[in-house]
Amino acid sequence: MKEILTAWDGEAVLIRHDAQTGAVIIIGIHSSKFGPATGGTRLMKYNTVEDAIQDAQKLSSGMTYKFALADFPRGGGKAVIALSRVLLPEERHGLLMRYGSWIRQLNGYYYTGPDVGTTPEDMDVIATTGDPYVFSRTPANGGAGGSGEATGYGTYCGMKAVGAHLFGTRTLAGKKILVQGIGSVGRPLLGYLKSEGAEILISDVDERVANDYPEYVFVTPARVYQTPCDIFSPCALGGILNADTIPQLRCKAVVGAANNQLGTEADADFLARQNILYAPDFACNIGGALAITGMEAMGWSKQVAFEQVSRVEQTLTTIFTLADEQRINTHVAARNLVREKLNRIQ
Ligand code: PHE
Repeated sequence: MKEILTAWDGEAVLIRHDAQTGAVIIIGIHSSKFGPATGGTRLMKYNTVEDAIQDAQKLSSGMTYKFALADFPRGGGKAVIALSRVLLPEERHGLLMRYGSWIRQLNGYYYTGPDVGTTPEDMDVIATTGDPYVFSRTPANGGAGGSGEATGYGTYCGMKAVGAHLFGTRTLAGKKILVQGIGSVGRPLLGYLKSEGAEILISDVDERVANDYPEYVFVTPARVYQTPCDIFSPCALGGILNADTIPQLRCKAVVGAANNQLGTEADADFLARQNILYAPDFACNIGGALAITGMEAMGWSKQVAFEQVSRVEQTLTTIFTLADEQRINTHVAARNLVREKLNRIQ
Protein backbone atom coordinates (compact mmCIF):
# COMPACT_ATOMS: atom_id res chain seq x y z
CA MET A 1 0.00 0.00 0.00
CA LYS A 2 2.82 2.41 0.88
CA GLU A 3 4.29 1.91 -2.60
CA ILE A 4 0.95 2.61 -4.24
CA LEU A 5 0.67 5.89 -2.36
CA THR A 6 4.26 7.04 -2.78
CA ALA A 7 4.42 6.19 -6.50
CA TRP A 8 1.75 8.80 -7.21
CA ASP A 9 2.23 12.56 -7.35
CA GLY A 10 -1.34 13.46 -6.35
CA GLU A 11 -2.72 15.30 -3.34
CA ALA A 12 -4.87 12.74 -1.55
CA VAL A 13 -6.68 9.43 -1.71
CA LEU A 14 -9.88 9.42 0.35
CA ILE A 15 -11.33 6.02 1.05
CA ARG A 16 -14.27 4.51 2.89
CA HIS A 17 -15.98 1.19 3.23
CA ASP A 18 -19.75 1.08 2.76
CA ALA A 19 -20.76 -1.53 5.32
CA GLN A 20 -24.28 -2.07 3.93
CA THR A 21 -23.09 -3.14 0.47
CA GLY A 22 -19.45 -4.07 0.99
CA ALA A 23 -18.47 -1.52 -1.67
CA VAL A 24 -15.32 0.54 -1.23
CA ILE A 25 -15.57 4.17 -2.26
CA ILE A 26 -12.32 5.86 -3.24
CA ILE A 27 -11.91 9.50 -4.21
CA GLY A 28 -8.63 10.40 -5.86
CA ILE A 29 -7.73 14.07 -5.61
CA HIS A 30 -4.83 14.57 -7.96
CA SER A 31 -4.72 18.34 -7.78
CA SER A 32 -6.87 21.19 -6.58
CA LYS A 33 -4.34 23.88 -7.52
CA PHE A 34 -5.96 24.78 -10.80
CA GLY A 35 -9.47 24.81 -9.22
CA PRO A 36 -11.79 22.48 -7.33
CA ALA A 37 -11.02 18.83 -8.06
CA THR A 38 -13.62 17.57 -10.54
CA GLY A 39 -14.20 14.27 -12.31
CA GLY A 40 -16.68 11.49 -12.78
CA THR A 41 -17.70 8.55 -10.62
CA ARG A 42 -16.74 5.15 -11.98
CA LEU A 43 -18.85 2.33 -10.58
CA MET A 44 -17.82 -1.23 -11.35
CA LYS A 45 -16.32 -4.43 -10.01
CA TYR A 46 -12.61 -4.50 -9.23
CA ASN A 47 -10.56 -7.54 -8.34
CA THR A 48 -8.77 -5.87 -5.45
CA VAL A 49 -9.01 -2.62 -3.50
CA GLU A 50 -5.44 -1.87 -4.61
CA ASP A 51 -6.53 -2.02 -8.27
CA ALA A 52 -9.38 0.35 -7.50
CA ILE A 53 -7.10 2.81 -5.67
CA GLN A 54 -4.64 2.83 -8.55
CA ASP A 55 -7.45 3.39 -11.01
CA ALA A 56 -8.75 6.34 -8.96
CA GLN A 57 -5.23 7.78 -8.87
CA LYS A 58 -4.64 7.44 -12.60
CA LEU A 59 -8.10 8.65 -13.54
CA SER A 60 -7.83 11.71 -11.31
CA SER A 61 -4.40 12.56 -12.74
CA GLY A 62 -6.02 12.38 -16.16
CA MET A 63 -8.60 14.96 -15.11
CA THR A 64 -5.88 17.43 -14.06
CA TYR A 65 -4.23 16.93 -17.45
CA LYS A 66 -7.48 17.41 -19.37
CA PHE A 67 -8.52 20.60 -17.61
CA ALA A 68 -5.00 22.05 -17.82
CA LEU A 69 -4.79 21.42 -21.56
CA ALA A 70 -8.16 23.11 -22.00
CA ASP A 71 -7.05 26.07 -19.80
CA PHE A 72 -10.15 25.45 -17.70
CA PRO A 73 -10.01 26.39 -14.00
CA ARG A 74 -10.77 23.02 -12.45
CA GLY A 75 -8.53 20.48 -10.76
CA GLY A 76 -8.29 16.75 -11.20
CA GLY A 77 -10.37 14.34 -9.15
CA LYS A 78 -12.15 11.06 -9.74
CA ALA A 79 -14.17 8.64 -7.69
CA VAL A 80 -14.17 4.89 -7.98
CA ILE A 81 -16.92 2.87 -6.35
CA ALA A 82 -15.53 -0.64 -6.28
CA LEU A 83 -18.26 -3.23 -6.00
CA SER A 84 -17.51 -6.65 -4.63
CA ARG A 85 -20.81 -8.13 -5.81
CA VAL A 86 -23.85 -7.31 -7.92
CA LEU A 87 -26.23 -5.00 -6.04
CA LEU A 88 -30.02 -4.95 -6.01
CA PRO A 89 -31.48 -1.65 -7.30
CA GLU A 90 -32.43 -0.49 -3.78
CA GLU A 91 -28.98 -1.38 -2.45
CA ARG A 92 -27.37 0.60 -5.23
CA HIS A 93 -29.69 3.53 -4.50
CA GLY A 94 -28.72 3.52 -0.81
CA LEU A 95 -25.04 3.38 -1.71
CA LEU A 96 -25.36 6.40 -4.01
CA MET A 97 -27.24 8.35 -1.32
CA ARG A 98 -24.52 7.67 1.27
CA TYR A 99 -21.88 8.56 -1.31
CA GLY A 100 -23.69 11.87 -1.93
CA SER A 101 -23.67 12.68 1.80
CA TRP A 102 -19.94 12.07 1.89
CA ILE A 103 -19.40 14.38 -1.06
CA ARG A 104 -21.37 17.07 0.74
CA GLN A 105 -19.22 16.63 3.85
CA LEU A 106 -16.17 17.25 1.69
CA ASN A 107 -17.64 20.70 1.21
CA GLY A 108 -16.40 21.38 -2.32
CA TYR A 109 -13.05 19.61 -2.20
CA TYR A 110 -14.43 17.24 -4.85
CA TYR A 111 -17.15 17.67 -7.50
CA THR A 112 -18.48 14.68 -9.34
CA GLY A 113 -20.18 13.73 -12.59
CA PRO A 114 -20.87 10.52 -14.53
CA ASP A 115 -18.31 8.03 -15.80
CA VAL A 116 -18.25 4.34 -16.70
CA GLY A 117 -21.09 2.65 -14.78
CA THR A 118 -23.00 5.81 -13.81
CA THR A 119 -25.61 7.93 -15.58
CA PRO A 120 -27.30 11.34 -15.26
CA GLU A 121 -30.13 9.53 -13.42
CA ASP A 122 -27.53 8.33 -10.89
CA MET A 123 -26.31 11.93 -10.59
CA ASP A 124 -29.89 12.91 -9.66
CA VAL A 125 -29.78 10.37 -6.83
CA ILE A 126 -26.30 11.41 -5.64
CA ALA A 127 -27.38 15.05 -5.76
CA THR A 128 -30.30 14.49 -3.37
CA THR A 129 -27.68 14.27 -0.62
CA GLY A 130 -24.63 15.69 -2.43
CA ASP A 131 -25.97 18.94 -3.90
CA PRO A 132 -24.41 21.30 -5.06
CA TYR A 133 -21.31 19.24 -5.87
CA VAL A 134 -22.84 17.07 -8.60
CA PHE A 135 -22.65 17.78 -12.34
CA SER A 136 -24.52 16.23 -15.24
CA ARG A 137 -27.93 15.66 -13.64
CA THR A 138 -30.86 15.10 -15.96
CA PRO A 139 -32.42 18.24 -17.48
CA ALA A 140 -35.58 17.47 -15.47
CA ASN A 141 -33.47 17.98 -12.35
CA GLY A 142 -31.81 21.14 -13.59
CA GLY A 143 -28.68 19.51 -15.02
CA ALA A 144 -27.18 19.54 -18.49
CA GLY A 145 -27.75 15.81 -18.98
CA GLY A 146 -25.20 13.25 -20.16
CA SER A 147 -21.64 14.10 -21.09
CA GLY A 148 -21.17 11.47 -23.82
CA GLU A 149 -22.26 13.63 -26.74
CA ALA A 150 -19.69 16.34 -25.99
CA THR A 151 -16.97 13.76 -25.40
CA GLY A 152 -17.84 12.16 -28.72
CA TYR A 153 -17.73 15.56 -30.41
CA GLY A 154 -14.29 16.36 -28.98
CA THR A 155 -12.97 12.99 -30.12
CA TYR A 156 -14.31 13.66 -33.59
CA CYS A 157 -12.56 17.06 -33.59
CA GLY A 158 -9.38 15.23 -32.55
CA MET A 159 -9.70 12.99 -35.59
CA LYS A 160 -9.72 16.08 -37.80
CA ALA A 161 -6.33 17.10 -36.41
CA VAL A 162 -5.03 13.62 -37.19
CA GLY A 163 -6.51 13.80 -40.67
CA ALA A 164 -4.74 17.09 -41.36
CA HIS A 165 -1.46 15.79 -39.97
CA LEU A 166 -1.42 12.39 -41.65
CA PHE A 167 -3.58 12.67 -44.71
CA GLY A 168 -3.34 16.39 -45.46
CA THR A 169 -7.09 16.92 -45.07
CA ARG A 170 -9.40 17.61 -42.13
CA THR A 171 -12.28 15.82 -43.73
CA LEU A 172 -12.89 12.25 -42.67
CA ALA A 173 -14.92 11.30 -45.75
CA GLY A 174 -13.93 7.84 -46.93
CA LYS A 175 -11.59 7.26 -43.97
CA LYS A 176 -11.94 3.84 -42.44
CA ILE A 177 -12.61 4.35 -38.72
CA LEU A 178 -13.02 1.54 -36.21
CA VAL A 179 -14.78 2.50 -32.97
CA GLN A 180 -14.23 0.18 -30.02
CA GLY A 181 -17.00 0.54 -27.42
CA ILE A 182 -20.45 1.63 -28.56
CA GLY A 183 -21.59 3.26 -25.32
CA SER A 184 -22.44 6.76 -24.15
CA VAL A 185 -19.48 8.23 -26.10
CA GLY A 186 -19.20 5.77 -28.99
CA ARG A 187 -22.81 6.23 -30.07
CA PRO A 188 -22.73 10.02 -30.58
CA LEU A 189 -19.27 9.70 -32.13
CA LEU A 190 -20.75 7.40 -34.78
CA GLY A 191 -23.27 10.14 -35.61
CA TYR A 192 -20.52 12.71 -36.25
CA LEU A 193 -18.51 10.25 -38.34
CA LYS A 194 -21.55 9.29 -40.39
CA SER A 195 -22.39 12.94 -41.10
CA GLU A 196 -18.97 13.26 -42.68
CA GLY A 197 -19.13 10.13 -44.78
CA ALA A 198 -16.49 8.09 -42.97
CA GLU A 199 -16.39 4.35 -43.53
CA ILE A 200 -17.41 3.09 -40.09
CA LEU A 201 -16.61 -0.19 -38.35
CA ILE A 202 -17.83 -0.94 -34.85
CA SER A 203 -16.83 -3.32 -32.08
CA ASP A 204 -18.15 -3.98 -28.59
CA VAL A 205 -17.93 -6.71 -25.96
CA ASP A 206 -21.72 -6.78 -26.16
CA GLU A 207 -22.23 -8.22 -29.61
CA ARG A 208 -25.90 -7.24 -29.54
CA VAL A 209 -24.94 -3.67 -30.50
CA ALA A 210 -24.47 -5.03 -34.03
CA ASN A 211 -28.29 -5.18 -34.23
CA ASP A 212 -28.56 -1.45 -33.48
CA TYR A 213 -26.24 -0.60 -36.38
CA PRO A 214 -26.88 -3.04 -39.22
CA GLU A 215 -25.39 -0.52 -41.68
CA TYR A 216 -21.88 -0.79 -40.17
CA VAL A 217 -19.46 -3.71 -40.24
CA PHE A 218 -19.30 -5.32 -36.80
CA VAL A 219 -15.86 -6.49 -35.73
CA THR A 220 -15.77 -9.08 -32.96
CA PRO A 221 -13.70 -8.19 -29.87
CA ALA A 222 -11.28 -11.00 -30.76
CA ARG A 223 -10.40 -9.26 -34.05
CA VAL A 224 -10.60 -5.62 -33.01
CA TYR A 225 -6.84 -4.94 -32.84
CA GLN A 226 -5.79 -6.68 -36.05
CA THR A 227 -8.50 -5.23 -38.29
CA PRO A 228 -6.97 -2.81 -40.83
CA CYS A 229 -8.27 0.77 -40.63
CA ASP A 230 -7.11 4.38 -40.90
CA ILE A 231 -8.11 5.37 -37.37
CA PHE A 232 -8.64 3.06 -34.43
CA SER A 233 -10.82 4.75 -31.79
CA PRO A 234 -10.84 3.18 -28.32
CA CYS A 235 -13.97 4.39 -26.51
CA ALA A 236 -14.35 1.66 -23.89
CA LEU A 237 -12.03 0.88 -20.98
CA GLY A 238 -8.36 1.78 -20.52
CA GLY A 239 -5.09 -0.16 -20.72
CA ILE A 240 -5.84 -1.43 -24.23
CA LEU A 241 -2.63 -0.15 -25.86
CA ASN A 242 0.00 -2.54 -24.56
CA ALA A 243 2.78 -4.95 -25.49
CA ASP A 244 0.21 -7.54 -26.51
CA THR A 245 -2.08 -5.37 -28.65
CA ILE A 246 0.29 -2.83 -30.26
CA PRO A 247 2.08 -5.37 -32.50
CA GLN A 248 -1.34 -6.46 -33.78
CA LEU A 249 -2.54 -2.98 -34.76
CA ARG A 250 -3.04 -2.30 -38.48
CA CYS A 251 -4.11 1.33 -38.14
CA LYS A 252 -2.39 4.61 -38.99
CA ALA A 253 -3.59 6.45 -35.90
CA VAL A 254 -5.23 5.92 -32.52
CA VAL A 255 -7.74 8.61 -31.54
CA GLY A 256 -10.23 7.66 -28.86
CA ALA A 257 -12.07 8.77 -25.76
CA ALA A 258 -11.25 5.95 -23.32
CA ASN A 259 -9.32 7.14 -20.27
CA ASN A 260 -5.80 5.76 -19.66
CA GLN A 261 -5.41 3.95 -22.96
CA LEU A 262 -1.69 3.25 -22.56
CA GLY A 263 -0.75 0.14 -20.57
CA THR A 264 2.48 1.90 -19.55
CA GLU A 265 4.00 5.22 -20.58
CA ALA A 266 6.61 3.32 -22.64
CA ASP A 267 3.82 2.07 -24.88
CA ALA A 268 3.66 5.55 -26.41
CA ASP A 269 7.17 4.95 -27.79
CA PHE A 270 6.13 1.51 -28.95
CA LEU A 271 3.29 3.05 -30.97
CA ALA A 272 5.62 5.66 -32.47
CA ARG A 273 8.07 2.95 -33.53
CA GLN A 274 5.20 1.14 -35.26
CA ASN A 275 4.53 4.39 -37.12
CA ILE A 276 1.14 4.83 -35.48
CA LEU A 277 0.16 8.39 -34.60
CA TYR A 278 -1.21 8.39 -31.07
CA ALA A 279 -3.56 11.20 -30.02
CA PRO A 280 -3.11 11.32 -26.23
CA ASP A 281 -6.34 10.28 -24.50
CA PHE A 282 -6.43 13.21 -22.11
CA ALA A 283 -6.19 15.62 -25.04
CA CYS A 284 -9.09 13.96 -26.89
CA ASN A 285 -11.59 13.21 -24.17
CA ILE A 286 -12.03 16.53 -22.35
CA GLY A 287 -15.29 17.21 -24.21
CA GLY A 288 -17.82 15.95 -21.66
CA ALA A 289 -16.18 17.32 -18.55
CA LEU A 290 -15.49 20.67 -20.23
CA ALA A 291 -18.91 21.15 -21.81
CA ILE A 292 -20.88 20.06 -18.74
CA THR A 293 -18.87 21.98 -16.15
CA GLY A 294 -18.76 24.97 -18.50
CA MET A 295 -22.53 24.97 -18.94
CA GLU A 296 -23.39 24.26 -15.31
CA ALA A 297 -20.71 26.20 -13.44
CA MET A 298 -19.86 29.00 -15.88
CA GLY A 299 -23.22 29.55 -17.56
CA TRP A 300 -22.05 28.65 -21.06
CA SER A 301 -24.70 28.02 -23.70
CA LYS A 302 -24.52 24.67 -25.48
CA GLN A 303 -23.14 26.46 -28.51
CA VAL A 304 -20.32 28.08 -26.54
CA ALA A 305 -19.59 24.76 -24.84
CA PHE A 306 -19.24 22.93 -28.16
CA GLU A 307 -17.07 25.74 -29.55
CA GLN A 308 -14.79 25.30 -26.56
CA VAL A 309 -14.72 21.53 -27.07
CA SER A 310 -13.72 22.01 -30.70
CA ARG A 311 -10.39 23.43 -29.44
CA VAL A 312 -9.32 19.79 -29.06
CA GLU A 313 -8.34 19.98 -32.74
CA GLN A 314 -5.95 22.90 -32.21
CA THR A 315 -4.50 21.39 -29.02
CA LEU A 316 -3.72 18.14 -30.80
CA THR A 317 -2.16 19.99 -33.72
CA THR A 318 0.14 21.76 -31.25
CA ILE A 319 1.02 18.42 -29.62
CA PHE A 320 1.84 16.78 -32.96
CA THR A 321 4.01 19.74 -33.96
CA LEU A 322 5.89 19.70 -30.64
CA ALA A 323 6.44 15.95 -30.92
CA ASP A 324 7.84 16.30 -34.46
CA GLU A 325 10.07 19.25 -33.60
CA GLN A 326 11.50 17.72 -30.45
CA ARG A 327 11.54 14.13 -31.70
CA ILE A 328 9.57 12.91 -28.72
CA ASN A 329 6.44 10.81 -28.63
CA THR A 330 3.06 12.52 -28.59
CA HIS A 331 2.23 11.41 -25.04
CA VAL A 332 5.40 13.03 -23.70
CA ALA A 333 4.76 16.14 -25.80
CA ALA A 334 1.26 16.46 -24.33
CA ARG A 335 2.54 15.84 -20.81
CA ASN A 336 5.21 18.52 -21.24
CA LEU A 337 2.58 20.96 -22.42
CA VAL A 338 0.46 20.22 -19.33
CA ARG A 339 3.46 20.74 -17.02
CA GLU A 340 4.29 24.02 -18.68
CA LYS A 341 0.71 25.24 -18.21
CA LEU A 342 0.57 24.11 -14.58
CA ASN A 343 3.92 25.76 -13.75
CA ARG A 344 2.69 29.00 -15.20
CA ILE A 345 -0.26 29.19 -12.82
CA GLN A 346 1.42 28.00 -9.62
N1 PHE B 1 -16.41 11.09 -17.31
C1 PHE B 1 -15.87 12.40 -17.53
C2 PHE B 1 -14.40 12.28 -17.92
O1 PHE B 1 -13.76 11.24 -17.78
C3 PHE B 1 -15.97 13.19 -16.26
C4 PHE B 1 -17.05 14.25 -16.13
C5 PHE B 1 -18.24 14.25 -16.83
C6 PHE B 1 -16.81 15.27 -15.25
C7 PHE B 1 -19.14 15.25 -16.66
C8 PHE B 1 -17.72 16.28 -15.08
C9 PHE B 1 -18.89 16.26 -15.80
O2 PHE B 1 -13.81 13.22 -18.41
